[in-house]
Parts: sequence; C-alpha cells; structure tokens
Amino acid sequence: MLDMHSIATVLLACAGSALAQNFSNDGNYGAPFPNTVYPGFASDNPVVIAGSKTNQTSPPQYPSPWGAGSGDWASAYQKARAFVSQLTLEEKVNLTTGTGWELDRCVGQTGSIPRLGFRAMCLQDSPVGVRDTDFNSVFPAGINVAATFDRGAAYARGQAMGEEHHGKGVDMQLGPVAGPLGRTPEGGRNWEGFSPDPILTGVQFAESIKGIQSAGVMTSAKHYIGYEQEHFRLVSDSETYGFTIAESGSANFDDETMHELYLWPFADGVRAGATSIMCSYNQVNNSQSCQNSYVLNHLLKGELGFQGFVVSDWIGTHSGVASILAGLDMTMPGDSAVYDSGDSYFGANLTVAVLNGTVPAWRLDDMAVRIMAGFYFVERNTTTRGPINFSSWTTDTYGYEHYYVGEGWTEINSHVDVRGEHASLIRSIGARSTVLLKNVNNTLPLNGKEKLTAVFGNDAGPNIDGPNSCSDRGCDNGTLGMAWGSGSANFPYLVTPDTAIQNTVVAAGGAYESSLDNIAVDTMAALARRANVSIFFANADSGEWYIEVDGNLGDRNNLTLWQNAEAAIDAVAGNCSNTILVVHTTGPVLLEKYENHPNITAILWAGVPGQESGNSIADVLYGNVNPGAKLPFTIGKDRSDYGVDILYTPNAAVPQINFEEGVFIDYRAFDRHNETPTYEFGFGLSYTTFAYSDLHITKMNVSDYVPFSGYTPAAPTYGNFSTNPADHVFPSNFSRVPLYQYPWLNSTNLTLASKDPHYGLPGSVPAGAQDGSAQPIPKAGGAPGGNPMLYDVLYRVEATITNTGSVAGEEVPQLYISRGGPYDPVKELRGFERLSIAPNSSTTFSVDVTRRDISSWSTGEQDWYVRNTTKKVYVGSSSRSLLLQGVLA
Ligand code: NOJ
Repeated sequence: MLDMHSIATVLLACAGSALAQNFSNDGNYGAPFPNTVYPGFASDNPVVIAGSKTNQTSPPQYPSPWGAGSGDWASAYQKARAFVSQLTLEEKVNLTTGTGWELDRCVGQTGSIPRLGFRAMCLQDSPVGVRDTDFNSVFPAGINVAATFDRGAAYARGQAMGEEHHGKGVDMQLGPVAGPLGRTPEGGRNWEGFSPDPILTGVQFAESIKGIQSAGVMTSAKHYIGYEQEHFRLVSDSETYGFTIAESGSANFDDETMHELYLWPFADGVRAGATSIMCSYNQVNNSQSCQNSYVLNHLLKGELGFQGFVVSDWIGTHSGVASILAGLDMTMPGDSAVYDSGDSYFGANLTVAVLNGTVPAWRLDDMAVRIMAGFYFVERNTTTRGPINFSSWTTDTYGYEHYYVGEGWTEINSHVDVRGEHASLIRSIGARSTVLLKNVNNTLPLNGKEKLTAVFGNDAGPNIDGPNSCSDRGCDNGTLGMAWGSGSANFPYLVTPDTAIQNTVVAAGGAYESSLDNIAVDTMAALARRANVSIFFANADSGEWYIEVDGNLGDRNNLTLWQNAEAAIDAVAGNCSNTILVVHTTGPVLLEKYENHPNITAILWAGVPGQESGNSIADVLYGNVNPGAKLPFTIGKDRSDYGVDILYTPNAAVPQINFEEGVFIDYRAFDRHNETPTYEFGFGLSYTTFAYSDLHITKMNVSDYVPFSGYTPAAPTYGNFSTNPADHVFPSNFSRVPLYQYPWLNSTNLTLASKDPHYGLPGSVPAGAQDGSAQPIPKAGGAPGGNPMLYDVLYRVEATITNTGSVAGEEVPQLYISRGGPYDPVKELRGFERLSIAPNSSTTFSVDVTRRDISSWSTGEQDWYVRNTTKKVYVGSSSRSLLLQGVLA
C-alpha cells in the first residue's frame, strides 16, 4: 500500500525520482501528538501534556475545510462565487498556480483569465516596502513598529505601504510577518516581524494587515508556522553551505505552546481579515508546513475559521495532491522543487488530478473561491485595477516581459513614483521607535550648542558604493537602515546619522567632525579626546539564509556588535567622558558592559529604521521628539540567559529543532529562571517622568463560555466541466512561453499528460480527504479568529498615568496578568497603550481584558478554559516595573 507521499509522487510529480525523495520524511500519517512530561518540569508535580521532542509527528486532519463566507466575508464570498461559477477548469487552475520564477514581472504571478479580461495577480515583497523596484519608500522594520507600542503607527505604516503597492499595480503585499516570532534572539528574520511577545506581535500584525488592506491590497501574512530559524529551512540552501540534510528542519512543538504562543498572533491576523497566509519552509512536527493537514486544515481553517487562502512560500510546496488535500490553495512561484524547472506540482498536474478524481472538484472550487474572496475582500476590481508598471528583474525602462527566457521585449518599467508624503511618517516612526535605555544626569537631549560634536562608527555613515549596491542589502556597509533578504526594498535615498547630525549641529552654530572607520581606533581616540560630546553608532545585522554576510548564514552567530565596533567603542569611551552609544540592530545585543561604563552617559536602541534613519535619530538626540518607545524584547546580560539557541549544526538527517522550552522564551524565560537582564522587555526611558496611581478593576457582566458546536454545510461546487481529457489539451496554434506553467494537458492520455512514468499505479489518499459532506466545526472555532466568546470582555482595568516632569511626553503603560497555574509564565503582557501626556496632566489608561486573555489551552478538551486560580493583574512601565497590582475577581 502506498502512502500519501507516494500518491503525491505517482499522480503529480513531474521530475521523477529526484522529486520523489522529497516526500520520504513527511510525517502526515503519524500518530497524534505523543503525551510526555513537559521538559524542565519533571521534578515539579509532573503534568502530562503534549511534548516537544525529536521525531514528533503531526496528526492527520481531513477534509480541508471549505470557506463559508463567515464574519465580514459574506459579500466577498458572494462575489467570488459568482466569478468562479463562470470559470472553466483551466481558468480555476490558473488562479492557483504561479507562472514560474522570473517568467513574469512580479516575484509571484498567477495565471490570467483573458476571456474575462482578468489580468494575472501580482504578488510582491516586502514587509518594508515594494521590493525590487524604484521610487518606492523604505519603511521602518516590523521590530521598530513593535517598539512604538503604538497601534496607530502600525496601521498608518500599513496603509502607506499598501498605497505604494497599489500604485505599482501589486495585488498582494507579501507581509506582514508574525513568524518568526523571535524564539531565539539570533533569529535572522526576527526584524521583519515584531516581537517575541505574542500579544504585542498579534496587535501590530493585525493593525498592519488592516492598514495595508485599507489601501485595496491583499496581504500575505507569513510565515506559518514555527519558522524560527534560517538554518536548515530548505535542502537547497543547506547544500550551498555544505550541509547535507535530507529534508527541511522540523520545528517540534506541543499543542499548548502552539496555541498559547506561536498561533496566537495568527489568530489576531485572521480575525483582522488577513486575505492570505503564507505557509513556511520548515516542517512542523516532521510534516512540511505547506502540506501539514494539522496546521492548515485543522488549526488554520478549522479552529481559526480562516476564510482566505494559503499560499506557499517560494518553492515551499513539496507535492501536489498531498498539499492540496492538506489545505494549500496556491503554489508559488509555480515551479516544482527547482526554480525554472518547467514543472509544477499544480498547473497541468492539478487539471489531471481533478479529471481523475484524486482532487475533488469541490476542493479546486474552494481554492479558487478563497483566492477570489481575498481579492474582493479588499475591494479590488477585476477590470479597473491599474496595470503592473514595473519589473522585479530589472530597473531598466525596456526589458523582457518573460525575463528568464528572454521573450517579449517591451517597455517594462514606468518608474512610477509612489512615495507620496510618506517620508514624514517614516521619519516619525523611526524616532518614535527609538528606545532610550540609559541617560545619566539628563545627558540627553543635546541642544546643538556643544562646542565640538564628534560622531563615530561605520554605522553612522553611508555605504560608499551606494545604499542599494549590495543585492537585497546583503552586506553590512555603512549605517543599517534595513537588514538583508527578501524582506528588503530599494532605498530612494538613505539619510545617514552623519549627515543629519552634522546638519543639526552646523545650523546651531557648533563644530562637527566625524570618524567613520571602526578599524582606525587611534584616529577615533584622538578625536574623542577633543570632543565635548561623542556619539558612537554601532550595529548588528541579520537576514535571510540565501545570503551570507560576514560568516552569518542569516541567523546571527552571536549577540555582539559588528565591524570591530566593540574595540572602537572602547577607544572612544576611554577618551571621552560624555560618550553616547546608538545601536542599530535586528534584535538584542549584549550591552551590560556599556550600561556599566562610567563614560557612556546615554544608550539608545534605534532598530532598523528605514530611509530617514539619520533624521529620526537626530530628532531624538536633540529633543524634537521625546522618546517614548519600549523594548520589544529582552536585552540579557549573557547569551546563555535566553535559554534557547539556534540549531547551527544538523542533529539528524532531518534536523530536529525541539522547542523544549515551551512558552518560555524572552521575558517568560528570564522570569522563570530568575535571570536579571540588562534591560527588560517593555523598558524605555523618556525626557520626562511619569507616576502611576488609582488602579480600578471592573468586572463585566458576561455569560459563561459555550464551546462552539455545529456543522458546516456540504462542500459546494461552482460550475461543471467535461471529464474528457480531449477537452483539456492545449488549444491549437497556441504559442507557449518556454518553462511557463499552463493548466492545459500535453496529451489526451493522462499518463503522458502528467509526465509521470508511475502514473496509474495504485495508491491511496488519506481517510476522509475527499469527503465533501457536512463537517463538525471545532469547539474553539466558529468565526475568523476562533470562538467569538473568547473575545468577550470580562474585566476593565484602569489606572491613572501622570506626567510629573516639565516637558510633554509619551508613555506606554503595560498590563500584565499572572494566570496563576503551576506551569504558567510568571506574568504575560495582555494590554498596552501609547499615551501622550502634557506636563502636570493625567490620563486614564484603560484595558479590556478578554476571556482569551485569562484562558489556558486544554490539550484534552481541545478548547480554551479558565483555570480555577487567582489571576493577578499588574500595571507598570515595563515587565519589571510593576507599579500597581490587583486581583481579577
Ligand atoms: C522567500 C521568503 O521566505 C518569503 O518571505 C518571500 O515572500 C518569498 N521568498 C518571495 O520572495
């Protein structure tokens, strides 16, 4: 008997045995999560819950739920169903399949439906701006948006990015990011996302989605799920670096950690109306994320009631039928395991699979309806949307429409300037995301009248080859305005700290010199001796695994500063008793020795701020902006304090990345292990001071939780098609673009049409996978985001925040809850607000505490429940400054 891996190979693989090997480690047929004692708790009163361990498997969950148009999606579904009802089999397939890498203008492009005047859909990176084009803006990274703790900033940035994508003819922006969440501080792509805290990430993720989609552009909220490190994400990338692995690394985690940590922000994203979710490169419990029926069918489309579509990460699809039955709706960029292979797991092979009944017609209809529902959900219009006016593969004006194969010479770039007035927003978010960590005796703000201001560090200056000279920003030359990988975009300009501070000082009548070569430590020391104030800029960079920078394969190798900065800082601080340190980093760096250094009078974390970098930091240094940001992660004293690390060397042929720490990452780990950090999560100073008083807790009158119960209708189908293969071959006289993915068959013989020599061998599909009858809805489900009763407000917590200083400022009061269970974190963030308060004035901080906020996940019940424990509530200015306390009673 063949298992699903074989089925996928038999029916759909186009490249023979090389592709077949890719299925050998997929664990879709494994037993349910094994029960085990939670690692680390064995000596406590042991609790048996699902565990995280090597070779863990993921339970099968079929059939793939069909979209119902629930929640706000009713009208989008109505339009999508009407549209899809008109389509032929091939036209539906065209919506699901990318046309191939570099074969059209966008990083991902679907097929088109010329008969209805429906042009291809353009899918384009990135989470910081429109990638691979010109006259676009580069926005502050997600990690900076997290540091603002300001919902409005997340929404406004999202809307501005959406407008820019819209202006370029993009249908779907590939972002925002909630995976990686930030399990390990070295994680290469943490900066694309927000924070290792799931609540902060969930809020900013949801606001970003709403903002982008308000501009009429779909989002692809990514990467789902467990994509917490770059190492071993793909076999091909690994080979480049000399690692031999058999399959993508597997993130192994338990059910409770899944729900209470990693899935949490995705629930917020789905509730906010995310139109698509991108499945990730890694495996989850030894089943590929893009063909894992448990995470796609059950968690995402079942429990979270996701109404949009699932798109693969690029070359993240590993099979056809297996992935489709497990919940994948669209494959990108369309090619099978190898870019420009000319083969696809979808395309013509999907047509074959529907004709031979392996993929039920209702499943293809559901894929097409979900995709078109996303399109209509953001109010795109099939006929009036603008053209795609750029090419990802060249910024020349003329070039090839089908770039990779050199066909279709045309005017390919219109160089449309889409930046609008976004520069001021970028500058403002850059400043409002800068965290003031140390400020001895009010060193800051400076007034510009310092007699000689000296600026130091490679990170203060330009990349002398130009801000875009390294492909996808894959180098660390000059100031770090953006990190590397597909999450980048081309700078329209990059204002360096050197330029902006010089302009400020000169305008105020001061003298200014800078020394920007970290190797020239003696030169720096000599300048520092003469300076009245020294400002040192240092950085630490990271990115995506396909680029190596300075020996870092995406993930950072350590938590230290780059480019000889540490020796250079010692030289400067050793010679100037008023040294200010600014760090541009993609996550935590070790700062303990600078916190303790008597000559370092101020420290600021400025993150990855985008094109206005220099102006943003000058605004903070000179007091135009009073800092109000808070750390979105913990800065520990030592790397080992985090308790988790990247798996840098394969521990098995299929690397096993065991999330043994469970929910205890970042501050949850520091609290659990009683580690004192240098700067805690949520910490940040201001040029003024705040007092906290008058905690009030109001219990709301809400009915008891009711687990969802009910059934879906049977799977609907839209339109008919002929089952005669002769009706699905290429139209006569059709001129094909080489390597392009088409939905038509090469032959009326399905064996030949599939190009698979094994076609027709007996196989099996998972039990229930083709069943289109009414299905039960999970107890925790029932609406986008999960059971609506989870969002009932149970308590309102209020406190008074007073500005006790002499200047206006912004404060972020934070609400933490201790759920009180023996295996719960000491406390968890559950609410925050960025408040602007005038001197000697007070404002009320108010948080609605929902049922979800105090619930725990029951692996036995497969539902949320409120444990019978005392729930403490804290309001404070950081995760360790809990100034007010009460009990939720
Ligand atoms: C791979 C990356 O993981 C993903 O984030 C990106 O959107 C695609 N490539 C397309 O560039």
